[in-house]
Amino acid sequence: MLDYPNFKNAVAELTEIDLSSYKSQQMDRRINSLMQIWGLETYDEFLEVLKTNPQKYKEFVKKLTINVSEFFRNSERFYELWKKIMPQLLKKPQIRIWSAGCSDGAEPYSIAIVVQELGASDRVKILASDVDKIILAKAEQAVYGFNEVKSLPPDLLSKYFENRDNLYYLNDTTKGLVQFYAHNLLLDDYASDLDLIICRNVVIYFTEQAKGLLYQKFLKALSPGGYLMVGGTEPILAYRQLGFENPLTSFYRKPE
Ligand SMILES: C[S@@+](CC[C@H](N)C(=O)[O-])C[C@H]1O[C@@H](n2cnc3c(N)ncnc32)[C@H](O)[C@@H]1O
Repeated sequence: MLDYPNFKNAVAELTEIDLSSYKSQQMDRRINSLMQIWGLETYDEFLEVLKTNPQKYKEFVKKLTINVSEFFRNSERFYELWKKIMPQLLKKPQIRIWSAGCSDGAEPYSIAIVVQELGASDRVKILASDVDKIILAKAEQAVYGFNEVKSLPPDLLSKYFENRDNLYYLNDTTKGLVQFYAHNLLLDDYASDLDLIICRNVVIYFTEQAKGLLYQKFLKALSPGGYLMVGGTEPILAYRQLGFENPLTSFYRKPE
């Protein structure tokens, strides 16, 4: 019979999601709640369901990865990005931005909107990745409910979206500015020469050790003078030891 460590290994093989890098309490709670909901008693049964029932497999990945996102999330910080950080970065002729753990696309598309407002679309490349391929397919469709667009100022909402039947369809120009790809932050190689990495509300589920490794890899992936933007509730306490500067709340800079 499978014990929990072996179950985690089997899940890692099946989904390429390494549960041991996620905080165990939260994972255990989510796994146990699904086992209860599905009326399963052993990890063997659970694994069998994941292997044979695509619908339940999808539900499991969704539960593990939690895809909540919205346009201009944490607006105060987002406006700092727009008004302070982006103009600084755009002193370079071309810049590269990566939204890591982009979920349904609201985050990278928010950047695409800012980039257009700054008149810099032809000078910025926006990459966006997530481990969850299902949410990436949703991101590429770029159709949102009111909850996801509610923090956008009304003028930007009407400028970039078409509202039909209570859904908000992002325009094709903005969609065309973001390049999505599947990527696991815990396993895969990172892009390089990036001027801005946005990774918000992703590492909250990772262990301290996994986070430490991630920040080292982010630092390496940044160009000198480049920024890492993190979520409002996830400051990097050891930023100095890691080699970052912290000029502004939520923004960490790689020294020139
Ligand atoms: C709460 S959403 C955050 C979305 C967006 N960054 C924001 O702040 O609105 C977290 C995302 O992290 C992704 N994620 C979780 N583990 C990941 C991993 N190991 N590699 C890449 N993405 C991961 C999830 O699939 C999910 O879409």
